[in-house]
Amino acid sequence: MLKHFIHTLDFSKEELLRMMELTSILKRADKDGACPRLLSGASLGMIFEEPSTRTRVSFEVAMTKLGGHALYLRPGEIHLGARESIADTARVVSRMVDVVEARTLKHETVLGLAKYATVPVINGLTDFNHPTQVLCDVFTMMEHAPKGKDLEELKVVFVGDATNVCVSLMHICARLGMSFMQAAPAKYQITEERRAAVRDASHESGARIAFSEDPVAAVADADFVYTDLWWWIGQESEIPDRQAAFMPKYQVNAALMAHAPASARFMHCLPASRGVEATDEVMDGAQSIILDQSENRLHTEKALLVWFVYPRLKRPSDALLARHRGIAEDFLSDFL
Ligand code: CP
Repeated sequence: MLKHFIHTLDFSKEELLRMMELTSILKRADKDGACPRLLSGASLGMIFEEPSTRTRVSFEVAMTKLGGHALYLRPGEIHLGARESIADTARVVSRMVDVVEARTLKHETVLGLAKYATVPVINGLTDFNHPTQVLCDVFTMMEHAPKGKDLEELKVVFVGDATNVCVSLMHICARLGMSFMQAAPAKYQITEERRAAVRDASHESGARIAFSEDPVAAVADADFVYTDLWWWIGQESEIPDRQAAFMPKYQVNAALMAHAPASARFMHCLPASRGVEATDEVMDGAQSIILDQSENRLHTEKALLVWFVYPRLKRPSDALLARHRGIAEDFLSDFL
């Protein structure tokens, strides 16, 4: 059955752990300058309805390192949803590429692409979630976990707005049996409906999902303190209200980090508004792992591309390749 990467809750704990093991294998290979060309000759179509630095660069470089090719399809460059239906775009692009990565304004769009595509679709962020980011984040947490602590013992405290990254962290923590807490004013906490959607997963995994309006108490036993932007494109009119609600209590600054254990690490998916949701002192400080986190997007995208594409690729024998080359060259020799 064709499988897409749209939501981490579509995958079992074992599958997510295996994806991270593959990330580790491919990261080590890359560090030796020996990334295996597992996707030689394959193509990735990258649809972006919003700007991106990390997602775009990581997917394109990942595909190149794996021996494949990536096409950047930016807004206005293809007909998606404007002069062509999502279904037709998905069907047509699927005939030409081996995998699609899509960053779409609305989650329904990526679901529509996945419904009609005949190749895997990877969600590169929507208004609902950001699964590639949080798979990378948990991989990064495992690299930086306090010595002796298992994954299930780790606590992530997200300080700030219920962004798509925040919601996605709740999803993956629920599946993996980790502790997740969001510290935010009540109005900006994850909705009850979204919390209810992870109850079964949390029950099964033993995850502890909690919410607080007190960031100081929340970070007291945090292994990772995470934040994200307080507003995004399209929320400009809300900036004064959001600024008033979050600043200064929910800013991740040295004073707040002083309440976290010394071993706690600071994370941010980036891009950041430096001096707003987090200060330079924290972002560039000794506890910050934001650059490892960003780099790991590359290794995670390699693992995801291999996971979804490698099993589907035809790997012709040298004899078959030589036969087809011979047929084409015989044809050409008649008139060239
Ligand atoms: N974190 C993240 O997805 O970054 P970009 O928006 O730059 O892709």
